[in-house]
Amino acid sequence: MESRYKKVLVVDFGGQYTHQIARRVRELKVYSEIISPEDFEKELKKMDIAGAILSGGPKSVLDEDLENVKKVLESTEKPVLGICYGHQLLAKAFGGLVEKNVVREYGRTRIKIVYRDKLLTDLPEEFWAWMSHWDTVTKPPKSWIVTSISESGAIASMTDNHRIYSTQFHPEVTHTEHGLKILENFLRKICYVEPWWDPGDVVEKIVEDIRNMVGPGENVVCAVSGGVDSTTTAVITHKAIGDRLYCIFIDTGLMRKDEREEVVETLKHVGIKNLIVIDASKRFLEKLRRITDPEIKRRIIGEEFIRIFEEEALKIPNVKWLAQGTIYPDRIESGRVGAKSSLIKSHHNVGGLPDKMNLKLIEPLKDFYKDEVRMIARKLGLPKNIWTRHPFPGPGLAVRIIGEINEEKLRICREASAIIEEELKRAGLYEEVWQAFAVVGDDKWVGVMGDTRKEGYIVTVRIVQSIDGMTADWYKINYELLDKISRRIINEVENVTMVTYAVTSKPPSTIEPC
Ligand code: XMP
Repeated sequence: MESRYKKVLVVDFGGQYTHQIARRVRELKVYSEIISPEDFEKELKKMDIAGAILSGGPKSVLDEDLENVKKVLESTEKPVLGICYGHQLLAKAFGGLVEKNVVREYGRTRIKIVYRDKLLTDLPEEFWAWMSHWDTVTKPPKSWIVTSISESGAIASMTDNHRIYSTQFHPEVTHTEHGLKILENFLRKICYVEPWWDPGDVVEKIVEDIRNMVGPGENVVCAVSGGVDSTTTAVITHKAIGDRLYCIFIDTGLMRKDEREEVVETLKHVGIKNLIVIDASKRFLEKLRRITDPEIKRRIIGEEFIRIFEEEALKIPNVKWLAQGTIYPDRIESGRVGAKSSLIKSHHNVGGLPDKMNLKLIEPLKDFYKDEVRMIARKLGLPKNIWTRHPFPGPGLAVRIIGEINEEKLRICREASAIIEEELKRAGLYEEVWQAFAVVGDDKWVGVMGDTRKEGYIVTVRIVQSIDGMTADWYKINYELLDKISRRIINEVENVTMVTYAVTSKPPSTIEPC
């Protein structure tokens, strides 16, 4: 196979940055795939694999038996890059020394290059890198070369000077200066793969696959929410099978302002004729009354959604398939791939499928990251407001309302969020951030409006920047804009007496409050 079209494996040892590694490789236009360590041997043998990256991980290599990994690594001539846990794994597997608690480094750390190998080509002699480790490689394997050291004297990177490279720091996180360059060096100078990956190029193939999968006379049902994932899924499926696609939009009453009208408008615009719109807001609110536990809320919404969806889908003749907008990180966060990653929240759009109906699944976007889906949506000619739209969680505003969900808090959350989005758009900053929304809880603040004292709700503004939602930074908004948002919320949204701004990143906080 031409080396141009080769892929890179990312072996998931459970590290929090595994997705970032895979994303970065794709950003450098090489297709990457996250696999579990159990599949490493089998996958690495495949012809179209140019090399592998061993991720970080929460365990200690000191407690692990690495015989199997060692065997795999020795059975190949393919290049390997170990990162953090991967670095320590390589050290231990090849006879170096790893020790506990000799040097603990967390956060930004200064790195000095002491030997310039292919991985560190074109980097300055010193740079800042992101570290997060307790175990440390104190001696490299015999005949390996230490290529850089950290300010605490730890081995920051090393190589066998042939095909195995490793870094204690994380080149995949943005805090590491020249991190992308390091990964680029690995891809181009060590794996010899030129840039080739473009998600837009595979759309025709996906359309063709769906066309071949769905038998003549069989119909497909798709739940649409107005978000980029489900809309793109619907459009791709529609391209493949035309009016045999039936879209169902369930208005849970937990949607953004004007969402229902926009969904109808967009699907009409792309030529989808069979759209069923269900107003189920009363049903959802009733089920959610007095429920405060976030996971119970999610479960109720998920179950109710599936129930309504099933009721409606059963009315459509000869439905055999369900098209679903699952994307790559959804599968991993929900534990369907990479068994080592831990479940943080149950994402209802992946968790529950209408099993009674025994439908087969079409997931055209299951291998893509969000920004790749956006590229595809753009290539498909979808309107800009769709492919630039912020992600919106399946359970909707329910995960932004702390405590019981009622109409009052929903109204506040919806109106305030619309103001935040509108102001960001006006300032030309909407596309710079990952998500921007309002959060409402039960705490009250005494306000003085005119001459009267009045208790009102507190609205927290949450604006974050992120690459894939797995980690996020709170957005350093300018004060004037924040002031404008705050004043508009107080003036325009009834019963709000205080606006606060959320200034904690993920981790430790999640993006949505519940
Ligand atoms: P958290 O809050 O876990 O969110 O930091 C990470 C990203 O996932 C979205 N999110 C969800 N999406 N169903 C979804 O479809 C859910 O239950 C859910 N919970 C969080 C969130 O909006 C953010 O982009």
